[in-house]
Amino acid sequence: MKLLSGITLSLLLALLFATTITTDAHNITRILAKHPEFSTFNHYLTITHLAAEINRRLTITVCAVDNAGMSDLLSKHLSIFTIKNVLALHVFSDYYGSKKLHQITHRSTLTATMFQATGKAEGISGYVNITDVKGGRVGFAQEDNAAKFESFFVKTIVEKPYNISVIQISQILTSPEAEAPVAAPSVNITDIMKAKGCKAFSDLLTSEGAMDTFVQTVDGGLTIFCPSDDVLKSFMPKYKNLTEEGKLLILLYHGVPEYNSMGTLRSHNGVIDTLALEGANSYNFTVQNDDEGVSLKTKVVTASIKATLVDDEPLAVYKIDKVLLPRELFNTDAPKSKKGSTSEDEEAEAPGPADDEDAADDTASDDNSSTSIGGVRIVVTVLLGLLLGVLASL
Ligand SMILES: *[C@@H]1O[C@H](CO)[C@@H](O)[C@H](O)[C@H]1NC(C)=O
Ligand SMILES: *[C@@H]1O[C@H](CO)[C@@H](O)[C@H](O)[C@H]1NC(C)=O
Ligand SMILES: *[C@@H]1O[C@H](CO)[C@@H](O)[C@H](O)[C@H]1NC(C)=O
Ligand SMILES: *[C@@H]1O[C@H](CO)[C@@H](O)[C@H](O)[C@H]1NC(C)=O
Ligand SMILES: *[C@@H]1O[C@H](CO)[C@@H](O)[C@H](O)[C@H]1NC(C)=O
Ligand SMILES: *[C@@H]1O[C@H](CO)[C@@H](O)[C@H](O)[C@H]1NC(C)=O
Ligand SMILES: *[C@@H]1O[C@H](CO)[C@@H](O)[C@H](O)[C@H]1NC(C)=O
Repeated sequence: MKLLSGITLSLLLALLFATTITTDAHNITRILAKHPEFSTFNHYLTITHLAAEINRRLTITVCAVDNAGMSDLLSKHLSIFTIKNVLALHVFSDYYGSKKLHQITHRSTLTATMFQATGKAEGISGYVNITDVKGGRVGFAQEDNAAKFESFFVKTIVEKPYNISVIQISQILTSPEAEAPVAAPSVNITDIMKAKGCKAFSDLLTSEGAMDTFVQTVDGGLTIFCPSDDVLKSFMPKYKNLTEEGKLLILLYHGVPEYNSMGTLRSHNGVIDTLALEGANSYNFTVQNDDEGVSLKTKVVTASIKATLVDDEPLAVYKIDKVLLPRELFNTDAPKSKKGSTSEDEEAEAPGPADDEDAADDTASDDNSSTSIGGVRIVVTVLLGLLLGVLASL
């Protein structure tokens, strides 16, 4: 039912608003890309994933520092997790355009930052004191350091009242709290998977030695797509058929050596590389968004993300409804009794019921859901046909 209304809704949306959809959402990366003097700041907003967070907020102020200012920060050789906290101090959860900055009531105010929002800041350490110092100069300091203001408003970069204000300040705001070493979040992948319906996959990873690779990759960012226990169970006969190398490769194929939040996956349509390496080449697959969510397409099979087990930088683990089959191991050109076409185009169509590859995984996945999807597709097709008929008759 949910699926049906989802599809119907998106179909309607696509048909009715295809040409009118506009997005007012801001994109801090794009805004700063026009100003090369902030390229380092921009780069760090991206790799710390603060950019995505900024884009999600409806009312925000970003205090950028130029490349020289950033090199002061980088010379401290802080970990990326610490840099994230420091930069989070430069993002205010309120709108401060140039005008508002120069007309602060009682000449001074405290504003909450994104560092405050992380819940990691103690006391007032997540607040920035903005003060109209003298002679029209606006000073900024993390509240504990507010005895002396060392960073000042330089200029407006972009103002979209009251959505986003991007300003330049003269120096990085410092704070011992924000600069405190942050331990990379440590989680036990095995425990997470076991607790949330991917025990079989986790056991395989461990017995095959792939878990070690995953664990060593976490610090630099890791995304795991784990087939649920049911799905993996029905895949086991085929798995056992693989060579030892094939077994390891297919397990590593479910790991991506970078952190992808659900938001990133949703906004990312394209090829991603996996941990499965053959020589210098890594096996890849395509991430694609549709109205139903995020799909992962290999040339052999299309899986969907069904649940998020953990999404906490640097690790994300998602449950999927099919085993990902790399074309390198499951050659779709294999001489199977496919009727008619011998097309080279592997992607051409989903294998029909005669093709055991997918049929087996389908039945294995979500007991009855695949048939209902088929049913819904037919309904949608009929509706589309009717609609086109009506349009044509006009
Ligand atoms: C923001 O802009 C950058 C650069 O143009 C682009 O790569 C990125 O996908 C955009 N992000 C979103 C969420 O649209
Ligand atoms: C900001 O800091 C200045 C200087 O320490 C102080 O006088 C002022 O009261 C602070 N403002 C707020 C709102 O705390
Ligand atoms: C601010 O955001 C709202 C809602 O997204 C939008 O309607 C408005 O046009 C935006 N304002 C500016 C100046 O971009
Ligand atoms: C995860 O916890 C289990 C015990 O629950 C332990 O045996 C295993 O070594 C831990 N794995 C890692 C990678 O820390
Ligand atoms: C295993 O491989 C053999 C030989 O290639 C094949 O005949 C058999 O169908 C395979 N079994 C499964 C479950 O894929
Ligand atoms: C994905 O893998 C295939 C097969 O190895 C390769 O031909 C292709 O170039 C890869 N795509 C990307 C974008 O790396
Ligand atoms: C799913 O299908 C099985 C038979 O294949 C049936 O026993 C079961 O009741 C069905 N479940 C639902 C929720 O329709």
